Formats: sequence, C-alpha cells, structure tokens
Amino acid sequence: MNNRKFAVIGGTGLTRLENLEIVRREIVMTPYGEPSSSLAFGNIDHVTDQEVVFMARHGHAHNIPPHMVNYRANIKALKEIGVTSIFAINAVGGIREDMCPGTLAVPDQIIDYTSRRINSFFESNLSHVTHIDFSYPYSAELSEKIYKAAEQVNIDIIKGGTYAATEGPRLETAAEIQRLKRDGCDMVGMTGMPEAALARELQMEYVSICVNANWAAGLSDELISMEIIDQNLVDGMAKVRQLLAQMIAQF
Ligand code: HPA
Repeated sequence: MNNRKFAVIGGTGLTRLENLEIVRREIVMTPYGEPSSSLAFGNIDHVTDQEVVFMARHGHAHNIPPHMVNYRANIKALKEIGVTSIFAINAVGGIREDMCPGTLAVPDQIIDYTSRRINSFFESNLSHVTHIDFSYPYSAELSEKIYKAAEQVNIDIIKGGTYAATEGPRLETAAEIQRLKRDGCDMVGMTGMPEAALARELQMEYVSICVNANWAAGLSDELISMEIIDQNLVDGMAKVRQLLAQMIAQF
C-alpha cells in the first residue's frame, strides 16, 4: 500500500515517544466520545519526513485502565485524520518459555477473553449486517517490516505467537494462566482487544509489538508488582523506540 499514514498507539511504559519530534498536537472528537489522548504529530528521529501520529492509549497521565479505554473513540479518531496503518505497543505477561521479561514479540494470533467491552462499530443504523474477516488479525506485511528492521538494528524479536486478551484490570490467577497455556496462548495482556478488531472494521492495517513485562501469574516465584512491570518495560520500550525509527524510515 502506498501513501501510508502511520500511527503508534503507546501502552503502559510508552505514554510518549521521546524520539518523536512533535510539530503539532490535535484534539479529535468522535461520535463515540473523546479519545484517550490528544494526537501528537511529528517525525521520529528525523530519519525520514514520514509523519507519524502518536496516541497514548492510557492517557498522557497513564490514568485510564485497560477496561476503561474508549477503544472506539481511539480508532475512529485515527481513521478521521487519515491514518492507514497502526503500530500498537502492548505490555504483556509472558507465558511461553522464551517470552521472558524484557523480550519483544510480534503476535500473529489473538484470543479474546474480554467480556465487558464495546467491541464493534457495527451496532445500529446499519444498512446491512457486517462480519469482518478476522482469521488473521494482524498485518503480515507490517510484521515482516518489523522483522526486517529488528534484524538491521540487531534487536531480538519473537516472530509470531498467540496473544490472550483478558478483561482486567486485575492480573490473572495461576489457574487462569494454565488455562490460557492449554488454549495455546503465548502471552497475555489487557489491551489487544477490541482494538485490533475495530481497526479491521475500519479497514486499517494493524500490527502489535508486545513487550514482556513479567512472567504471567504462577510462572515464577516472584509476585507481580507494578514496580517489576515498570522496571522491565523501561528496557523493552527503549528497543521499541529504536525499532519504530528504523522501520518507519523504510517506507
Ligand atoms: N497479565 C495481563 N496483562 C499484563 C500482564 C499480565 O501478566 N503484564 C502486563 N500486562
């Protein structure tokens, strides 16, 4: 696809992109309400004149929990300003053995365990019922671009894996994680859905870079605390910034 317009949706640990040279901010209202944050427009690391839009999923102050995010307003706001392609950054707990804290992973599948979220734009005033094809929820083309960029800047990245989207805001029980493991999930987070499906409904390319913040519940002796999550995310997010700069320069 030519003439892409990129957005980065930053999650926990990435409420702003330090290497984004911001040229303007915009507050976009939508029929679904206000998005989580104003939109910051700019260039990453001056590497390219490709404009990037940044949105903080949990608000600039990081005070909107995953189950309270207005996902529809966020995706609609990006659509309204012409975004075609979304890089979603998500903090996760690692389930598979190689998903250790600090590692990055690009999931290729998702299982939705959320239960209370508005998960579609197609609700009322419809001229016809619409079911999107969601067999492959993430853009394979953008995933390949991420892999290539990671290789160029020497960042290890796990290619593929199944993301379990849980309702939160509490973390899971050890038994719930065992169930997710049996279901074939490799990582668990609270923000992957309905974001990915809403982007597909509005025909936007969507890919996720997951940063492992902790071992999922019951998989290590350590209790999971916000301190541990935040600590592990610092390193991971530094890699994400580098990766985004390298990748966006290639378009
Ligand atoms: N579970 C769900 N969401 C998360 C986790 C977790 O262990 N870590 C970071 N986000």
